[in-house]
Amino acid sequence: MTTLLSYRNVSKSYRDGGFDLSVLFELSFEVPQATLFALSGRSGSGKSTILNLAAGFDDVDNGEITFGEQIVSSAPKTLQEKLRRTDIGFVFQRTHLLPELNALENITLSMHDPSMSFQMKRDVAMELLADFNLGDRAKHRPEQLSGGQRQRVAVARAIAGNKKLLLADEPTSSLDDDNRDHMIAIFRGLIEKRGLTIVMSSHDTHMLTGLTTS
Ligand SMILES: Nc1ncnc2c1ncn2[C@@H]1O[C@H](COP(=O)(O)OP(=O)(O)O)[C@@H](O)[C@H]1O
Ligand SMILES: [Mg+2]
Repeated sequence: MTTLLSYRNVSKSYRDGGFDLSVLFELSFEVPQATLFALSGRSGSGKSTILNLAAGFDDVDNGEITFGEQIVSSAPKTLQEKLRRTDIGFVFQRTHLLPELNALENITLSMHDPSMSFQMKRDVAMELLADFNLGDRAKHRPEQLSGGQRQRVAVARAIAGNKKLLLADEPTSSLDDDNRDHMIAIFRGLIEKRGLTIVMSSHDTHMLTGLTTS
């Protein structure tokens, strides 16, 4: 299987009140393309740090993170930003949907492809909403949606525009069992139908039982 994302000897410390807090020490792993890769561990173990480093929200101290052929960990900020617009989607634990925009607008306005007309973006967004069982919620603002629906809009927004990799930080932690299972089913569908690769974190090791993790 082709590797899409790889961490090689990645180390990261934070300086915290005069002390160096070592969060990651020479971490190495590879994420194959079109798989669901789960990072599990207790709160504070470094899951968000691992995801943030791949997205370019933070910098490694040592080691290397590669996305496809590209070393992303030491790439210029402008390139990291470009990758986040075109290839790498990110879902924060808190969804960060824009409260004054409805679901459709939240997704449409996240697409930055200048070759797409507004109407094309709308069509893509409507299709995504339908895929996420939210076709009848397009005009709802976040506050008019349930927690599970909001989380699905956030994922739809993150992958809109043919992203190749989705980094999802605890996308299921605020969800009840049914919504969590629904989200995982959607993830599996995206992997099968679009060849998307998903790296998600969860502090709930129980929920990961039955998931294929590499
Ligand atoms: N920007 C930061 N400055 C200082 N310490 C941080 C920062 N970000 C995270 N940490 C610390 O790094 C450790 C790992 O955090 P994090 O990656 O958020 O873990 P997790 O997502 O597994 O809960 C925690 O002890 C946290 O307090
Ligand atoms: Mg975290």
